[in-house]
Amino acid sequence: MLEVNEIHTYYGNSHVLRGVSLQVKPGSVTSLLGRNGAGKTTTVLSVMGYLKPRSGSIVYGGKAIAGLPSHRISRMGLGFVPQERGVFPSLSVEENLTVAARPGRDSRWTLPRIYELFPRLKERRRNRGFQLSGGEQQLVSIARALMLNPTVIVLDEPSEGLAPLIVDEIVEILHKMKSEGIAILLIEQNLSAALDLADMHYVLSKGEVCFSGTSETLRNSERVLSDHLSV
Ligand SMILES: Nc1ncnc2c1ncn2[C@@H]1O[C@H](COP(=O)(O)OP(=O)(O)OP(=O)(O)O)[C@@H](O)[C@H]1O
Ligand SMILES: [Mg+2]
Repeated sequence: MLEVNEIHTYYGNSHVLRGVSLQVKPGSVTSLLGRNGAGKTTTVLSVMGYLKPRSGSIVYGGKAIAGLPSHRISRMGLGFVPQERGVFPSLSVEENLTVAARPGRDSRWTLPRIYELFPRLKERRRNRGFQLSGGEQQLVSIARALMLNPTVIVLDEPSEGLAPLIVDEIVEILHKMKSEGIAILLIEQNLSAALDLADMHYVLSKGEVCFSGTSETLRNSERVLSDHLSV
């Protein structure tokens, strides 16, 4: 459903992605792993239209999307939860959730359903963005992506810098999203969470994919774990 084929992405003259390919299958969870600076964020920014690869292709639902404006890509059904979360500090939780939503006839993710999945956000719906903890901001960012009824959701390190309890809450929510049939592309430093959630893993090193395989294969790949994931 989402296919990245041999993309090369640059920042100015700096050649960062060197032929990255990966696939996200319908309803599955795919993880993207690798050390700091390996190129994970650059890969998802390329997918979401914030960076344009110089070569290679990105195909989603049969359409070439590389270089399309990001708002068009998200309307096609690709949701994005960026590494910096992007919660509007002066808006309430509820305003953050509804500001970008475009409810349609078949919109599955209404506010009441979101509040069912995120009871903590219901409690805090009148609080403003700046009053939320880091974990609550992450929940807002995930819930806001869901409000656009995505078929694939891309999350860039959702558990980064958060306490274990809220990380468990986020992992639980990702499991529920998966059971609703939403495909997930997950960047994650927390290897055990990634092994638990994902069906397929890609490991990046210096802008190249150095491993791809199932959780079982990754668990048994001691060299990949020690060289590229600091395990
Ligand atoms: N705006 C930028 N301009 C120039 N170089 C950049 C820019 N953003 C990232 N880079 C470089 O591109 C490489 C890949 O960065 P990227 O942010 O994709 O890594 P990452 O795998 O997401 O790392 P992290 O785990 O720290 O988030 C790094 O060498 C980084 O220094
Ligand atoms: Mg990153």
